Amino acid sequence: MPQNSKTITVTNDGVTLPIPSIVTGRGFITGKSGSGKSNTASVVIEELLKNRCPLLIIDTDGEYRGLKEKFKDLIHVGQKEESDVELTLERVDLITDLALIQGAPIILDVSTFKTEQSKSIINEVVTLLFHKEKEHRKHFLIVIEEVHEFIPQQGGVDELAQNIIRIAKRGRKRGLGICGISQRPSAVDKDFITQCSWSVWHRFTWAIDKKAVNQTLGVDYANQISSLKTGEAFLVTDWDETTRVTIKQKETFDEGATPHTSDIVRPTFKSDQSELIEQLRSIEGPPPKLDPNALRTELTSKNSRIKDLENRILELTSELDANPPLPSTKRIEPSKPVSLPNPSPNKLLEDSIESINANTKKQTTADVSQDFSPIWELGQLILYLWRVSLRGFLIILVKLIGIFKIKL
Ligand SMILES: Nc1ncnc2c1ncn2[C@@H]1O[C@H](COP(=O)(O)OP(=O)(O)OP(=O)(O)O)[C@@H](O)[C@H]1O
Ligand SMILES: [Mg+2]
Repeated sequence: MPQNSKTITVTNDGVTLPIPSIVTGRGFITGKSGSGKSNTASVVIEELLKNRCPLLIIDTDGEYRGLKEKFKDLIHVGQKEESDVELTLERVDLITDLALIQGAPIILDVSTFKTEQSKSIINEVVTLLFHKEKEHRKHFLIVIEEVHEFIPQQGGVDELAQNIIRIAKRGRKRGLGICGISQRPSAVDKDFITQCSWSVWHRFTWAIDKKAVNQTLGVDYANQISSLKTGEAFLVTDWDETTRVTIKQKETFDEGATPHTSDIVRPTFKSDQSELIEQLRSIEGPPPKLDPNALRTELTSKNSRIKDLENRILELTSELDANPPLPSTKRIEPSKPVSLPNPSPNKLLEDSIESINANTKKQTTADVSQDFSPIWELGQLILYLWRVSLRGFLIILVKLIGIFKIKL
């Protein structure tokens, strides 16, 4: 063990780990599902948080939120109801500043994201942390769950894998440590495992995993590894002999525990970093992107609607020309362009009625000055009756048009 360094205790019987070697080193916690990896990682994290060590956890399964039960300065960034801040790509720059410069411990919960989305967020985080550490050189630990998904042994080495391996190889000089967790050591890039300065090997039962144990720890350990109980492990470090240990149980709420019907109520834990949370919340994402294809489709549909309406106007105009409502009343000249408001057939009829009324009135007023003549009176009466019946006919016609919406 390095001399004079502060330590954290990870077992009930007093096994300790030196803080600087954990925070700036390269760690690997492995074992089959349910063997105790996340519990071990949580114990290390709890002990580091007690010592106010800055760290960021990349939580792929949403199981580290329970740490907030005891560590109120942890900020949970994710897409869950209980997240303190929503995780967006735009906020990553400030998240890394708050974590690295201000020392705010962060849980980056990517469990709700699709693989490609979470990869681009994680890539941004590790790239920024690596570059910022060149200047700040503060001790800082990144914990990555399910690390085989990001640095696979097989398949192409993408940008994210290169950046993680770069931290494993060159992070220590900048103060940047990394701890990967995986249930499949055979699926993790060997370049990562061989760089590790400390590792915890929990139970394995499958031959392929035992082969990986054989290659890294040797045949004796490979033969014993299937007999380890949950929480038991081989602790391998650059500074001490490999030992069989039983990691203590974590102190905080176990979010990753197998659910039972009695534990359906999930506690909510509040962070006390309200000022930093507000800062993060104030960073908005970019305005929604305009989709040129959608805009083009909308424009085409609007143009075709305009064309339809123009055609309809022409149709109505020619219908009106072919069926003039009244011989002598206002007509729309065929050669003239159609101007709005277009007089409706109803309006034309109403105008006609008004004109008849006006004529009748004019005629009646003029009659007063006439001398009395029975023949003239009879003629006037017939004329009056004809006008009244014509008016009545026109009124009925207007009503009928109104009812049946007949277009003249
Ligand atoms: N050291 C321990 N002491 C007591 N209980 C433990 C210990 N380690 C693990 N457990 C118990 O085992 C359960 C499974 O542990 P854990 O979630 O750490 O497994 P895991 O290896 O991370 O599994 P997975 O690969 O599925 O994530 C825990 O909920 C806890 O109850
Ligand atoms: Mg786990």
